[in-house]
Amino acid sequence: MDLDNVELVGQSTPDPLRFAFPRKAMAHAGGKVQPVPPPMVQQSLEQAFSVAPESSGSRCLYVHIPFCRVRCTYCNFFQYASSKDLIAAYFAALTTELKRKAAQPWTQAAPFQAVYIGGGTPTDLNAEQLKALGTMIRELFPLTPDCELTLEGRINKFSNEKFESALEGGFNRFSFGVQSFDTKVRRAAKRLDDGDVVKKRIQELVAYNSAPIVIDLLFGLPHQTLEVWEQDLEGYLESGAHGVDLYQLIDMQGLPMHKMVEQGKLPHPADTPTKASMFERGVQFMAQHHQRRLSCNHWARDNRERSIYNSLAKTTAEVLPVGAGAGGNVSGFQMMHTRNMDDYIKAIQAGEYPVPMMMRADSMSPINSHVKSAFDRGVLSRSGLDMACQSIGFNAGSSLFDALMPLFKAWEKNGLVAVNNDYLTLTLAGEFWNVTLSQNTIKTIATLNA
Ligand SMILES: C[S@@+](CC[C@H](N)C(=O)[O-])C[C@H]1O[C@@H](n2cnc3c(N)ncnc32)[C@H](O)[C@@H]1O
Ligand code: SF4
Repeated sequence: MDLDNVELVGQSTPDPLRFAFPRKAMAHAGGKVQPVPPPMVQQSLEQAFSVAPESSGSRCLYVHIPFCRVRCTYCNFFQYASSKDLIAAYFAALTTELKRKAAQPWTQAAPFQAVYIGGGTPTDLNAEQLKALGTMIRELFPLTPDCELTLEGRINKFSNEKFESALEGGFNRFSFGVQSFDTKVRRAAKRLDDGDVVKKRIQELVAYNSAPIVIDLLFGLPHQTLEVWEQDLEGYLESGAHGVDLYQLIDMQGLPMHKMVEQGKLPHPADTPTKASMFERGVQFMAQHHQRRLSCNHWARDNRERSIYNSLAKTTAEVLPVGAGAGGNVSGFQMMHTRNMDDYIKAIQAGEYPVPMMMRADSMSPINSHVKSAFDRGVLSRSGLDMACQSIGFNAGSSLFDALMPLFKAWEKNGLVAVNNDYLTLTLAGEFWNVTLSQNTIKTIATLNA
């Protein structure tokens, strides 16, 4: 490993939180993968789903709903504008796919611990569809008795009727994108509803006292100063939500926001050092208000919020994908469903898997998943890493934790981690840069393996 490479070890700076690396490289750390030749994809999946695995670890179901009423200026997840007819056609195909996937031996072999309906904006489905979706999943799929069923979306047009139908359908966790409670920030980002409307609606949903209500906040949006951010954090407390994710804005290519900034219609989003300061304030705020930390970015107010899907999907759990644009991993295959609606519906009608691209996860993937989830939680243990190595018979010569020690020591010198014989613990700076550190660890393990 090249310990002089600043991309690997970070800058030596008195302020690693703000300046250790130039920017967060990508949303999620990944490993090395091998593509499955396209003509082999259907056959390989048919084979994988037709057998019940001898043993099974944790599994989750992910269902994607690729519609939004309006595209937010910062978002890269947008696929299709919500329209009644398109949603109805999609829902019919989705039902077919769910029934087909549920009937397969692989699916019936073991219970699922968490179900996540993500998007897009799944709360744009109508009340009837929401109830039918939850009911169908509970009737067709084997679920653990304490299975978490999350419905994602936003409060806009999420009426009491929809909420009650979703509860009747069996959804027992609701995750709403709020992003900011500040009306100016919201309007500039093309969010629907003013901040006080959103806060009041979250309060009403919490007052039902029926299921955990969690929210996402973004930091770094145009107009979102540190003062506004402070108000956003206060807004979370006032909303009464059971949990919150604090995400830094990722500035991806091609976002509508960029064009508007270029045209002078929007101020620039926050730079990385400012986002680091916002993260710092978020962490302090949550500690000050005794919120329980579940990961580097996620906090819970009380024990109602369990966040099972988020923690499992980041570990070695298998994720069964359903719907256009859904991604998952089953029996050592990582797959991404087509995002194109016509292609999706045609594939489902033809009885095919809507998978244009599939990878075989490399043999190191259990170790990589362990590393990703450990950095996401903020601590990597020697024993956990040893166990991940043993699970695939990987021998790094000595313990992998020791083999990585020179890298850990370099990070410690640069203020990103604290390391002792048993644990690597992220500092505040390390928490901010956790995806970069995780990615760099995975890359280093690959070079040790080679
Ligand atoms: C795919 S969205 C779905 C949520 C819902 N449609 C909504 O309106 O909020 C899930 C979350 O992704 C996050 N997100 C979207 N764009 C992002 C970006 N550019 N950087 C970081 N997070 C982003 C937002 O916090 C959002 O709540
Ligand atoms: S944040 Fe939500 S509503 Fe806005 S474009 Fe992204 S997925 Fe759609």
